Amino acid sequence: MKNIVILISGRGSNMEAIVDACGREQWPARIAAVVSNKATASGLQFAASKGIATAVVDHKQFDTREAFDAELARIIEGFAPDVIVLAGFMRILTEAFVQQFDGRMLNVHPSLLPAFPGLHTHQRAIDAGCKLAGATVHFVTPALDHGPIVAQAAVPVLPDDTEAVLSARVLQQEHLIYPRAVRWLVEGTLKIDGHRVLHTEGDTQLFLG
Ligand code: GAR
Repeated sequence: MKNIVILISGRGSNMEAIVDACGREQWPARIAAVVSNKATASGLQFAASKGIATAVVDHKQFDTREAFDAELARIIEGFAPDVIVLAGFMRILTEAFVQQFDGRMLNVHPSLLPAFPGLHTHQRAIDAGCKLAGATVHFVTPALDHGPIVAQAAVPVLPDDTEAVLSARVLQQEHLIYPRAVRWLVEGTLKIDGHRVLHTEGDTQLFLG
């Protein structure tokens, strides 16, 4: 049984999708803990309601990024994690933290990386006149939003889209691809080859919404 630790900063809808899929599909894994950098993150309530351990490491209590990351890593290690899942965790992580969990940590980002790393991805895609937008699940490496890509989902950008409408369309796809990708990591069916990630049993890593 593998231990999954999920990091959130807010709503936690991706975390919910992963918790649900883990139970429904009977993964050989358990959600060992949900950890937030914000005590007000509403996702913590969902996790607690499912009997999942929760913890808060408030970044505002630390003078430096290094000190925050060291405490966060200590809390995570306490749950003996096999897989660490960033699910709307809105902190930039230090290289030391990322190295500690190298090959075991995934992130979901609301764009078709390498386009639009960083924030405000949906508005930037609309402003750029993109006809396609989407979401990416990738391994976390020290370079922000640039790790090896595990799965991507693409959706159309429609002429009347607002940021809210497009982000809802993309989020629906995140809820499909992120549980899938976490399951692959749990099952050990991902092979990293340089910057490319292959599913060893040939599952599709591209989703068209
Ligand atoms: C998701 O759209 C996720 O892709 C994004 O934050 C949202 C969290 O929603 N993450 C990032 O922008 C990370 N750079 P959720 O809390 O409901 O899962």
